[in-house]
Amino acid sequence: MEFQEVAKKRRTIRRYKQVQVLDKDLTNMIDTARRVSCGANVQLLRYIVIQNKNIVKDVFETTAWGGFVTPRRTPEFGKNAPLTFIAVTALGDSTEIIHANAGAAIQAMQYAAWDVGLGCCWIGAFNKQKASEILEIPTESTLLYLLAVGYPDEAPVQDDIDMSGSAKYYLDDNDVLHVPKYKVESITEWR
Ligand SMILES: Cc1cc2nc3c(=O)[nH]c(=O)nc-3n(C[C@H](O)[C@H](O)[C@H](O)COP(=O)(O)O)c2cc1C
Repeated sequence: MEFQEVAKKRRTIRRYKQVQVLDKDLTNMIDTARRVSCGANVQLLRYIVIQNKNIVKDVFETTAWGGFVTPRRTPEFGKNAPLTFIAVTALGDSTEIIHANAGAAIQAMQYAAWDVGLGCCWIGAFNKQKASEILEIPTESTLLYLLAVGYPDEAPVQDDIDMSGSAKYYLDDNDVLHVPKYKVESITEWR
């Protein structure tokens, strides 16, 4: 896929087909993430690929989905929930720059996933303490985010909006998720 197409069409996915993701695609996502820009090039991020059904279920139970479209976009385990998570951890503390580095890495993973027909949901709303226990994260590391990965079972669309519009994503009468984004001229100043 052309990069512009990936960048414009990628959407957060909250419903997944019950089909296992290929290891090579997950490896490629992390291979993409490891190459991204990184403050001082510290490279302190580490990745845990979670595919064991019991661990996926336990981790899934710590997560919260789509606050504006609950419960219609809260996946159900065994029905349309992700079969894979990638946990993004950092060696050391959760500093501002580590979060910036994680953001760059996670966005790159989402693009790499979309490029091969996979969708993701970046999850910041989860019980970190519980998930850290489940994943046995050592005390010298920090669990930063989870990334759900899988084959999309929904097709969200993006709408361009003016500054006067609401940025809240919503479901329409056909159960299609709409994700409003401000137009480029609304958010850009040229000096
Ligand atoms: C830092 C961060 C945390 C997020 N946490 C969650 C989350 O916990 N649960 C969820 O369903 N979506 C989460 N999202 C996904 C956003 O809701 C989503 O990116 C937003 O609605 C825009 O949709 P889009 O990704 O399709 O552009 C998160 C995204 C980011 C960047």
